[in-house]
Amino acid sequence: MVKVSPSMLSADFSRLGEELKRIEDAGADWVHIDVMDGMFVPNITIGPLVVKALRPLSKIPFDVHLMIKDPIRYIEDFAKAGADMITVHAESGGNTMKAIEKIRSFGRSPGISLNPGTKFSKVRRYMDKVDLILVMTVQPGFGGQAFREECVAKISEARKFIDDNHLNVEIVIDGGINRETGKKCVAAGATVLAAGSSLFSNENMKEEIMLWRTFDKT
Ligand code: DX5
Ligand code: ZN
Repeated sequence: MVKVSPSMLSADFSRLGEELKRIEDAGADWVHIDVMDGMFVPNITIGPLVVKALRPLSKIPFDVHLMIKDPIRYIEDFAKAGADMITVHAESGGNTMKAIEKIRSFGRSPGISLNPGTKFSKVRRYMDKVDLILVMTVQPGFGGQAFREECVAKISEARKFIDDNHLNVEIVIDGGINRETGKKCVAAGATVLAAGSSLFSNENMKEEIMLWRTFDKT
């Protein structure tokens, strides 16, 4: 069944604890936490202190998406703050393989992400080292952008590679996901849908999540 990971980026930042509860009450599988440094992307969001503050409020897995330069510098902080999955970008500089190994060394699940302009071939060599691949379907930095259709082929490419090599890797899609684009992504092979604006603007997040769970590969 498709998993859903609502993105805190669309939450009310003055009430993050309550928003986390709202996500949990809606039956979400994970919560997606977007970390931005104003360098890798032109926006700044939250850091490990916020993750640490939220951790005791919920048992839901924290899916932490690092949109920061040279992310190896902060892996220990996010692991200790209580992140369950930690995803780094292929374009973020530094030694990506070492960053992935470091995430694993803290007993966390590593993920690799790629921007819309980055080819799947750039991340192929990490696929037997990670637990998830996060395919960006918008340019990272801001919520509420339009889904980029041209990225769907990359989802199919990742699906084929994972299946051909009998790997156990989740395919997470992030950016512009709603009930239409989410369905397309699942048909192409996605297993997890991360979404901010479409879920938070919906008065009944629970019903929306239940609908997305019914998507299948047909
Ligand atoms: C964008 C973030 C996304 C963002 C998605 O840089 O990585 O996780 O929250 O927001 P929507 O679903 O509004 O495109
Ligand atoms: Zn994200």
